[in-house]
Amino acid sequence: MPIGVFDSGLGGLTILRALQQRMPEQAFTYLGDNANTPYGTRDAYDVFDLTTKSVQTLFDMDCELVIMACNTASASALHRMQVSWLPKGNRRVLGVFVPMIENLTRRDWGDNAPPTHTGLENVAVFATQSTIESAAFPREMKFRARDVNVVGQACHGLVDAIEVGDAALCKTLVEHHVAELLERLPKPQAAVLGCTHYPIVESLFRAALPEGTKLLSQPDIVADATFDYLTRHPRYKEDGDTQYFTTGAAEKVGKLAELFLGQLANWQKV
Ligand code: DGL
Repeated sequence: MPIGVFDSGLGGLTILRALQQRMPEQAFTYLGDNANTPYGTRDAYDVFDLTTKSVQTLFDMDCELVIMACNTASASALHRMQVSWLPKGNRRVLGVFVPMIENLTRRDWGDNAPPTHTGLENVAVFATQSTIESAAFPREMKFRARDVNVVGQACHGLVDAIEVGDAALCKTLVEHHVAELLERLPKPQAAVLGCTHYPIVESLFRAALPEGTKLLSQPDIVADATFDYLTRHPRYKEDGDTQYFTTGAAEKVGKLAELFLGQLANWQKV
C-alpha cells in the first residue's frame, strides 16, 4: 500500500520530495486540499473537519499510513484525531511536528521524564497564524527542555505569496517577519520553519537571520524519522510510483506544483 502524504495545498511537497529522496522505491499518494487552502488562517474546528476529510480520502485510497505534511493540521488537529477519530486497527497518522521537537530536544516523544537541560536557550519559530496560536510548539518544547525560551512569529501572507510564486513579495514578507522576530529575540540559537511551505523560501530566511542562527530543515528531519518508523514497522512499506491528487483544479495546481517539485507531474482531482 502507498504511504499517504497530506497538506492543505502544495507545501507538503517539500516533505514529499525529501521522503522520495530518502526512500526512492517507496510508493506515495499525495493529496493537497487546494480547494480549501490556506488552513493557517482558519480556527482549530475548521482545520480538524477539513483534515479528517482529506485523511479519510487517503485511507479510502488504501493508504494505511498517512504523513500529515502540514504543521497547521499537525499542531491543531492531530492530537484530537488520534484520541477521538482514528479508527481502531492499523491505520496511522504521523505529523511533522513531533520529529522537529525530538530533533531539537534530543528526546523521544514518549519520554515523559521532567524537563532536562538541552543546551537550548532560545528558539525562533516561523509558522502560520493558526500554528502559532495553538501554542503547541512552545508547550511541547518546554515539556522537555528546561530554560528554553521559544518565540513565535506568525508569517501573515507568506503561504499565499509562495503558492502564487510571487518572489518579490516573498522576499519582502520574509524580511519583515524576520525583523519583527529579531526585535523580540535578537540572537536565536536555532530557527524552525514550522510551515511546510517555507522551505521553498529557505534561502530568504537564511539571508535575513543572523549568521549564527542554526536553521533546521524540517523535510530532512521528517524523512529521517519516517525512514526509522518504516524500519520498525515494515508492514507500511511498498514499492511503487507517486500519485498526485488535489481537491482543487488539477491543471492549475499541476502548473504551480512544478515550482515545488522541480518537474511536471500528472495531477488528478478527487
Ligand atoms: N503548509 C501548511 C503548514 O505546514 C500550512 C499552509 C496553510 O496555511 O494552509 O502549516
